[in-house]
Amino acid sequence: MTATYHVKTFGCQMNVYDSERIGELLEAEGYAAASIESADVVVLNTCHIREKAAEKVYSDIGRLKARTARPRVVVAGCVAQAEGAEIVRRAPAVDVVVGPNAYHRLPALLRDGGPQAAVDTDMPLASKFDALPARRSVVGASAFLTVQEGCDKFCTFCVVPYTRGAEVSRPAAALVAEARALIAAGAKELTLLGQNVNAYHDGDITLAGLIRLIAALPGLVRLRYMTSHPRDMGDDLIAAHGEIDVLMPYLHLPVQAGSDRLLKAMNRAHTRDSYLRTLDRLRAARPDIALSGDFIVGFPGETDADFAATLSIVAEVGYAAAYSFKYSPRPGTPAAGMADQIAESVKDDRLAALQAAIGATALAFNRASVGTRCDILLDRAGRRPGQLIGKSPWLQSVFVVSPAAKIGDMITVDLIDAQPNSLEGAPVPHLNSFLSAAA
Ligand code: SAH
Ligand code: SF4
Ligand code: F3S
Repeated sequence: MTATYHVKTFGCQMNVYDSERIGELLEAEGYAAASIESADVVVLNTCHIREKAAEKVYSDIGRLKARTARPRVVVAGCVAQAEGAEIVRRAPAVDVVVGPNAYHRLPALLRDGGPQAAVDTDMPLASKFDALPARRSVVGASAFLTVQEGCDKFCTFCVVPYTRGAEVSRPAAALVAEARALIAAGAKELTLLGQNVNAYHDGDITLAGLIRLIAALPGLVRLRYMTSHPRDMGDDLIAAHGEIDVLMPYLHLPVQAGSDRLLKAMNRAHTRDSYLRTLDRLRAARPDIALSGDFIVGFPGETDADFAATLSIVAEVGYAAAYSFKYSPRPGTPAAGMADQIAESVKDDRLAALQAAIGATALAFNRASVGTRCDILLDRAGRRPGQLIGKSPWLQSVFVVSPAAKIGDMITVDLIDAQPNSLEGAPVPHLNSFLSAAA
């Protein structure tokens, strides 16, 4: 009987990419994909960013241990890197702990596995990428491509520099080859990923240079990148937004907070004003660019005035979307030891107020799109029969009813109604003639 595996992913898109690669590695080893309830090997690809995310792993391990046929349990990802052998002490049911820079060795760890749990949290100098299969199998029309890993910024709240190590960029030639492989496997849209993707550099090739190389590949329809740091938004990258057609008019540029005092305590290396001036430059290059961001509420010492500055920057920027989080003290980070930790109830109130402010700018952004026409790339099924959901160039989710279309198609729609998190589209028949031909 063929051995089976299942990978469950927590956390960011970089983990999504790693999970796809782990799946490819295990399939090359003869494993077949299966559900989490039946797989012989279950890989939990974990996230350490906030306490809640990290703790989820342990409840999952508990559930797996209770299965009648207990699977071999692998803890991969950022909790593996941060906690290492401590995981096995706390959860003896775990068979393998493998860090985000060592997972290419997972097949060997599973093969050699004895009664003792194996722990591999090395950050080898030789790149794991060289050890991964060259052929890519793609699930959808939109694929991720990790181009850079790690972080040298050390924001005082954040574990990523510790779990993912120093900033490392992959060679541009290898990335162009992998982009080609993804397009050959059916990808129409690529999202270049990195913890600080705009710190990418390979010799003289910056992220803007890499974008130009990949944008030129035949068959690629859309190109995106994330996540960027405000400090690394170079002139060439900003210019690329005005010059490259397939580069979508959307940028995720986290600011975290609106007050300079807090930005300094967070070690963000930018001010409110320098961030806003960067957005001015972007809008000059690409006037229709949609902006999104990340925010933390309840950072140690955050006053009502600091928080008011966060609310005001949301309104000033007019985000198309944004993600907001309650500050979660993380072991080993400077902010966890700061005085003036904020009470949970205050964090709750601020989060609710911030989400209302973001909802308002997101709705205004979506309402301004109503009455316009755009292409959407269909990426999932909706709840109603015949309903599909696709992404606009500005990464808005657009619902359509178009029975002849299928996931992976790009169709032209008129945007007819708006909510804070989605829009409704009506297919434009004469611009989608391929649909009637296919039907
Ligand atoms: N490298 C990216 C993403 C980092 S993690 C960047 O710099 O933007 C994604 C988001 O999680 C961060 O932008 C931040 O808003 C949030 N985050 C990070 N650490 C956190 C913590 N300790 N508590 C709450 N949110 C946190
Ligand atoms: Fe974390 Fe800051 Fe690095 Fe982003 S830039 S990964 S928030 S330390
Ligand atoms: Fe989480 Fe690690 Fe990503 S901590 S957000 S999975 S880099």
